[in-house]
Amino acid sequence: MRVLLGVTGGVAAYKAAIVLRRLKEDGHTVRVVPTAASLQFVGRATWEALSGLPATADTFDNVPAVEHVRLGQQADLVLVAPATADFLGQLAHGEARDLLGNALLATRAPVVVAPAMHTEMWEKASTQANVATLRERGITVIEPAVGRLTGPDSGPGRLPEPEDIVAAAYAVVDGGPLPPGASSVPWGDLVGLRIVISAGGTREPIDAVRFLGNRSSGHQGFALAEAARERGADVAVIAANVALPLGEGIARVDVETSAQLADAVRAAAADADVVVMAAAVADFRPREVAATKIKKDGTGALSLELVETEDVLRALVEEAVPGRTVVGFAAETGDDAASALEHARAKARRKGAHLLVFNPVGEGRGFGDVPNRVTMLDAAGDEVARGAGTKLAVAHAVLDAVVGGRH
Ligand code: CTP
Repeated sequence: MRVLLGVTGGVAAYKAAIVLRRLKEDGHTVRVVPTAASLQFVGRATWEALSGLPATADTFDNVPAVEHVRLGQQADLVLVAPATADFLGQLAHGEARDLLGNALLATRAPVVVAPAMHTEMWEKASTQANVATLRERGITVIEPAVGRLTGPDSGPGRLPEPEDIVAAAYAVVDGGPLPPGASSVPWGDLVGLRIVISAGGTREPIDAVRFLGNRSSGHQGFALAEAARERGADVAVIAANVALPLGEGIARVDVETSAQLADAVRAAAADADVVVMAAAVADFRPREVAATKIKKDGTGALSLELVETEDVLRALVEEAVPGRTVVGFAAETGDDAASALEHARAKARRKGAHLLVFNPVGEGRGFGDVPNRVTMLDAAGDEVARGAGTKLAVAHAVLDAVVGGRH
């Protein structure tokens, strides 16, 4: 199941890391939503490393994905541990001060909260009234444990042990560890979307041993596939000569030539919501392919006749399947006639894809596992977004723009 784990600001926040661990060990997908105050106790990096998912605290992160609503809607269980007295008040009054408050308003899933605070705060009439209100509304408020508190004091108010919190949560949703072999459900803004990504560079045979190729390594396309999978998409990759591994759960078809790539993309794109043409597809191929190795003939030259290959991106754009987003890539260099960006704008208008991802190349930029810098253009050639950093960071920026364009 998908568990939204809310963490609010208290020293006991570190124990939520053990709760998260237990849930993950049981095979569940956990998305942590910390409050700003809780980040004073345990940082975002801990939550992201342990959950394997983004841990945003801010309502205004990832706005195109309508995260503040989606998180609550998609959760099967919301568990808040530790829950401060302030948070209980916020929840009892239906306040949406931050991402966690918004997610709780937007959820229909069972909600379990594990309060932790000093005894005086727990016993305060206002806190007890809030707890009574929450229980009346069907929210499970776990009774705090009695024992040593943060300072020298002790009494009721201690966060129960992580095992007890997990057991209380499972009791509410009739849950428990997933059976061995069962895979956890993905969680992200791309759940339910099928994405096809072409990656790498095609090779057009000249003879039995030679080909016309290009320098595309497939890193950017593969980063897109990993990012899309992480965000919950059903991902298929058409890989043209890519010597890189792909993560679990991503379908892969290996191809060599532009013709094979065109066939594979066409087949996979039939039921796709998004098609990303990140592959560097040869524009030309030798008209004839010699069955044996071509020998030098003493003339000091060799002529090859090249013919155009099918433009896969153009075909996808022309087909214009409703609801299907088509994304192209353009690696451009500037020249005397125009800058790289101007060439990209012209290409965006010519190709007509919903999004054209332009990156400047040449002088060692752009190819291989190196940081990338891209500008995303719409079909009119206007800039809609930018991305920079590692190829994974750029991949997320491209997916953000895709999601933004689909709303
Ligand atoms: N592309 C494609 N099929 C081809 C060639 C390119 O689908 N036969 C796609 C690429 O995957 C990329 C985009 O088109 O997403 C731009 O590729 P690029 O080679 O830069 O464009 P060209 O086809 O060369 O554009 P033009 O000839 O119009 O300049």
